[in-house]
Amino acid sequence: MAPVALDNSPKSYKIAQIGGDGIGPEVISAGVAVLKAVAKKAGFSLDFTELDWSSDRYKRTGSYVPKDYIEILKQHDAIFFGAVGAPDVPDHISLWGLRLAICQPHMYANVRPTRILAGTQSPLRDCAPGDLDWVIIRENAEGEYAGHGGRSHRGLPHEMGTEVSIFTRAGIERIARFAFETARARPRKMLTYVTKSNAMRNGMVLWDEVIEGVAAEFPDVTMDHMLVDAMTVRMTLHPRSLDTILATNLHADILSDLAAALAGSIGIAPTANLDPTRTMPSMFEPIHGSAFDITGKGVANPVGTFWSAAEMLRWLGEERAAGMLMRATEAACADGIKTADLGGQAGTEEVTRAVIERL
Ligand code: NAI
Ligand code: MG
Repeated sequence: MAPVALDNSPKSYKIAQIGGDGIGPEVISAGVAVLKAVAKKAGFSLDFTELDWSSDRYKRTGSYVPKDYIEILKQHDAIFFGAVGAPDVPDHISLWGLRLAICQPHMYANVRPTRILAGTQSPLRDCAPGDLDWVIIRENAEGEYAGHGGRSHRGLPHEMGTEVSIFTRAGIERIARFAFETARARPRKMLTYVTKSNAMRNGMVLWDEVIEGVAAEFPDVTMDHMLVDAMTVRMTLHPRSLDTILATNLHADILSDLAAALAGSIGIAPTANLDPTRTMPSMFEPIHGSAFDITGKGVANPVGTFWSAAEMLRWLGEERAAGMLMRATEAACADGIKTADLGGQAGTEEVTRAVIERL
C-alpha cells in the first residue's frame, strides 16, 4: 500500500521585511511583533527575512538594492515595507531606487482601503465610523508615473522638461477588471472611476472608453464617472455616496492622501501593491512616508502598518487572522490607546503592546 502523505506541519509563509528609512523601521518592527503574535494565535508561522535596503545602503554602496533583488524577492510569499526617503537624497532618486524598483511593473494594482476606525475622529463634521468606507484602486504600473520624458537645454532660460504619461489599453483593461471585481465583492457593488478627460483629451479619453467597455461585463455593478477636481469636493461633502474608487496613478496618489486625512490621519492608512497574477510577491506598506520630523522619537503611529499587515494576511489566504488583527487594532484605538496624530498620548511601543494584549 502506498504511504499516505500526511502533512501536519503548520502553514508557513516567507516574508521579505524592508523597514527602509526614517520611521519605516520603527513601524515595521512593531508590525512584525503583532504579526508574530497573530500567527501564533491563528496557528501558522511567518518567517521574516530582514533586508537592509534603504538610503543608508544607497549612500554606502551607490544602490538601494543588490543586483539580484528580484530573485531575492521571488523567494518570498509577500513583502512587508516601511517607507523610503532621506533628507540628504533627492526624493526621485530614493523613490525610483527602491519603492518603484520593486513595484513596477508587476504590481499593477495599488489598493487603499479607507475607513474611520472606532475611537478615531474624522475632521469632517458629523462623520462617524461607517460613514466613510472606501477602497481606492490606483493604477500602479504606468500612467503619469511611467518615467517617460526628458530634460534639455539645462541651465538656459529656455530649459525644458517633459513628463510623458503612458496609458495603454492593456494596462487600463486589467486595472478596470480588478476594480470591478473589487466593487462586486463589496456589499454596495458601486464603482466610481475618476479621470480628467475634459482637459486631457488623449490618454484620459482612452481610459473612459476602455472602462465603459469593461463595464458591460459587470452589469451588477453600479458605475459612475467623476472628473478628478470635482471628486475632491464629493469626497469631502458626500463621503457616503462613494464606495470603490478607480483612478490613474497620479490622481489616486493624491486622492488617497485626501482620503487618509478625511478618515482621521495619514498614520492609519494602509496600502497593498498587488500582482493579481501572483507572478511576483505583492508588497504591503503604510501609505505615509519616512516622516523625518518624528523619526527616533518613538511616536510614529503603527496603525497604518498593522492594517497593511492585515491586508497582507488576507492576500496570503489567512482571512481569519486578518480579521483578528483588525479587531485588536480597532479595540486598542477605541480604548484610547492612540498616538498623538490621533489625539492620543501613547507611543509606538505602547500601541503595539495594547494590540498584542487584545489579540
Ligand atoms: P510623510 O508621510 O513622511 O509625513 C507627512 C506628515 O505626516 C509629517 O508631519 C509626519 O510626521 C506625519 N506622519 C507620517 N506618518 C506618520 C505616522 N505613522 N504617525 C504619525 N505621524 C505621521 O510625508 P513627507 O513628509 O511628504 O515625506 C517624507 C519623506 O518620505 C520624503 O522623502 C518622501 O519622498 C518620502 N515618502 C515615501 C513614501 C513611501 O515610501 N511610500 C510615501 C510618501 C513619502
Ligand atoms: Mg502618496
